Amino acid sequence: MSSRVYIETFGCQMNVADTERAATGLRKAGYDIAASAEGADVVLLNTCSVRERAERKVFRRVGEVRKLASAARKRPVIGVMGCVAQLEGEKIFKTLSAVDMVIGTQATDRISSLIERAQNGERSILDLDERRENEVWDVSPAERRSPYVAFVPIIEGCNKFCSFCIVPYSRGREKSRRASEILEEVLRLRSLGYKEVHLIGQNVNSYRPKALDGLEPFTGATPFSRLLRAVAATGMERIKFTTSFPRDFHPDIVSAIEECPNLCDWIHLPVQSGSDRILKAMRRGHTAADYLKRIERIKSSRRRLSLTSDIIVGFPGETEADFEATLKIVGECEYDALYMFKYSKRSGTPAAQLDDVVTEDQKTRRFLALEELQTSVQARVCEGYVGRQVSVLVEKKSTRSEDDMMGHSTCHKVVNFKAQRAEPGDIVNVLITQAKPNSLYGERLHP
Ligand code: 5AD
Ligand code: SF4
Repeated sequence: MSSRVYIETFGCQMNVADTERAATGLRKAGYDIAASAEGADVVLLNTCSVRERAERKVFRRVGEVRKLASAARKRPVIGVMGCVAQLEGEKIFKTLSAVDMVIGTQATDRISSLIERAQNGERSILDLDERRENEVWDVSPAERRSPYVAFVPIIEGCNKFCSFCIVPYSRGREKSRRASEILEEVLRLRSLGYKEVHLIGQNVNSYRPKALDGLEPFTGATPFSRLLRAVAATGMERIKFTTSFPRDFHPDIVSAIEECPNLCDWIHLPVQSGSDRILKAMRRGHTAADYLKRIERIKSSRRRLSLTSDIIVGFPGETEADFEATLKIVGECEYDALYMFKYSKRSGTPAAQLDDVVTEDQKTRRFLALEELQTSVQARVCEGYVGRQVSVLVEKKSTRSEDDMMGHSTCHKVVNFKAQRAEPGDIVNVLITQAKPNSLYGERLHP
């Protein structure tokens, strides 16, 4: 009987995509992919390190998995993969003696041989090496989380080194995937019936492949806007992309969205702070005014584009005046949604050396004040959708009511609506009748 491998995923979409890739490779090598840790021969934890709390969760989980051993069965082989693996490396074997394998962020395609070694009795197996030339993104539909929405990585890693962020250390330098390979994947997904792709990367708009093969027929001010036009030309019904980085955000991205109806009306452009002093300390490479200039083009687009962002409150040295500047920019940007974080010190990043820390109480107070502001901004933004039609990709039954279905709009809002014969995977038009704090409610319009 073949070995059963269970992969548990923490953190961002890049980890989800990596898990899908790892599962594809393992199944090709003859392993079965298990749906839970119980009964699995190998348990892999694909970890996230963006906050130290996330890291502690993994440590707890290793303890639980270790205890799955019984009189009849030894414990599974345990592997830590993802960002914590890459950052902590060999140290993990000392802290967590039950861990057999530490599998770095670029070792996804080599896991089967690592498992083989572990099953032959080898301990403390470590692979923190880079991806190899012949290793390409290959994900089988069977391993994808959804049969309708697929994540397609276009760029890995990050060169930006924002002072608070661990990602450049855990994921290495930016490496763009060849456009021809991306386009082939999107075409294949389309023929398999996928309705939506998310082009993903830490900074999608920094996309810069070594060669431009596949992009020759397409124009654009940057390789990314050319890629957007090329992906749109595949005919995939809905195309979303995330995350964009302000400094590299070229207005031609908005032009491409205006030209191609299947490029979705949503842009995630994190600002992090509204204070130039803090933005400088964060090493973001943009000021508040630079950011506002970028979003002017988004706001004045002839399509109404949904705009979302990330903010960190309580960065070291953040004064009341700095925080006021953040409130001001959030008020001005009128975000459709905002992901708010209290600054958390990440050892290994430059910001971890800064003193002048903001107290936990202050962080909480600022977080709540920002949340209150965003709630009122968001209520107004969402009210603006009432009476409008949105296109929804149906995902599942609503959690609130048996009679309702839920899905996401092209502008990436959660929409619940009266079911009326809609099935998961359908794309339906919904007339919005009510705005809720974090979702929209409406009725299906029949064509
Ligand atoms: N503390 C708080 N938030 C952080 N983020 C990244 N690193 C930290 C940190 N050390 C947030 C940023 C980023 C999002 C994915 O997580 O806002 O955009
Ligand atoms: Fe982290 Fe900044 Fe890179 Fe985003 S752009 S992954 S915040 S270093």
